[in-house]
Amino acid sequence: MTTFDIDVFSQRRQKLAVAVGKANQQQELGAIVVCAAFEEERRRFRQNSYFYYLFGITEPGAVGLISLDGHATLYLPDFGGARSVWVDEQVSLSSDPSSFGLAVIKPMGEVQRGYSSGTVFTAGGYQQLINDIKKIFDKKGVVGGVWGETAGEVVICNLMQFLQQACLDGGVFYNGTAIVDALRRVKSEQEIVLIRQAIDITIAAHHVAANVLRPGLKECELQAEIEAEFVRQGALLPAFPSIVGGGVKTTVLHYVENNRVLEKDDLVVVDIGAEYGYYAADLTRTYPVSGKYSPRQREIYDWVLAAQQYAANIAKPGMFLRNAVVKEQSLHWLVTEFFKTQGLEKFFPHGLGHYMGLDVHDVGTYLEPLQPGDVFTIEPGLYLRDESIGVRIEDDYLVTASGVTCLSAVLPKKAQELENLINK
Ligand code: GLY
Ligand code: MN
Repeated sequence: MTTFDIDVFSQRRQKLAVAVGKANQQQELGAIVVCAAFEEERRRFRQNSYFYYLFGITEPGAVGLISLDGHATLYLPDFGGARSVWVDEQVSLSSDPSSFGLAVIKPMGEVQRGYSSGTVFTAGGYQQLINDIKKIFDKKGVVGGVWGETAGEVVICNLMQFLQQACLDGGVFYNGTAIVDALRRVKSEQEIVLIRQAIDITIAAHHVAANVLRPGLKECELQAEIEAEFVRQGALLPAFPSIVGGGVKTTVLHYVENNRVLEKDDLVVVDIGAEYGYYAADLTRTYPVSGKYSPRQREIYDWVLAAQQYAANIAKPGMFLRNAVVKEQSLHWLVTEFFKTQGLEKFFPHGLGHYMGLDVHDVGTYLEPLQPGDVFTIEPGLYLRDESIGVRIEDDYLVTASGVTCLSAVLPKKAQELENLINK
């Protein structure tokens, strides 16, 4: 079940409907199509972030139609009642729509076999939805859609294309994604509460990692301890695959093989994030496996930490996370210049940070400056492959009226503090 009051989702839909109407010559007639994610046998189901943001509903295979007057209809695949035998449905065709803030819940199309939607779309399976969209086009209404473009969202893009094709004689779908991206970028207080919970769980997992760390441990054993803590605390899925890389693998930015044995002179990059209540955390620490950084490791570590503190000190509304045009306001550019003073900039190959929310790399344009309510990461890193030294330090920040608040401030990060934590 959702963790928010159901009105939160109705209000988000209302805002979207108004914005889509405005963007289409003040249209009052029309609707926006939003598709849920589909189940996959290999993975635990996780709802699509756009669909979750707008409906708070965690059923797969559903489609929501948000009328420009703000009312919403939920279309569910009709399995003739078989689904409830197999899974614990959150919402079904016999649910009371008002308890989900919806006007109507109706079948998507004809009765389907089985209990789970496939991703080969048939006109019969979507007939009711297609008919309803066509009726809107017939009355000269606008039909919009919201869909992401990441690899995980390909199936939803395919479904959107299928629906667009089925309704093509009516007109072309208006793409309302950027409107939702702008809404999603600014976090409410309730969202911050969940992000803080995801962060607190991730901090607990870092403490577990520091506690069990020792030479001879395999990276995947460390990963197992981390993810066990996530699950124990109700974060059943990580927000992204855990990166636990020691030695030369500290220099592989998205290393997820996690199959090496940690040796006593290694550093280990632990870049992890729990997802809680659909919200992500993303926190990186770089630990010395022996419990003590070598002088060279410590030197690099301290430059990365100084870069992070520099960025956090100057971050505020009006600054950009990155911006190639107004460089002096770009945190990424300024940190690169900071590293340049030490001749280290060539060892900093990635972005300084990203927005974070329902997705770890959350939606939102980087062309607009930071604004209060944004949540983002600051994660400078230096990677010296020839020396098997990779260091990344990452914390999560909330933009306030005058600067930023570090949401993960209680997780130690000074070199000496991390040594103390490991040796405790
Ligand atoms: N935590 C992985 C990343 O931000 O890319
Ligand atoms: Mn990150």
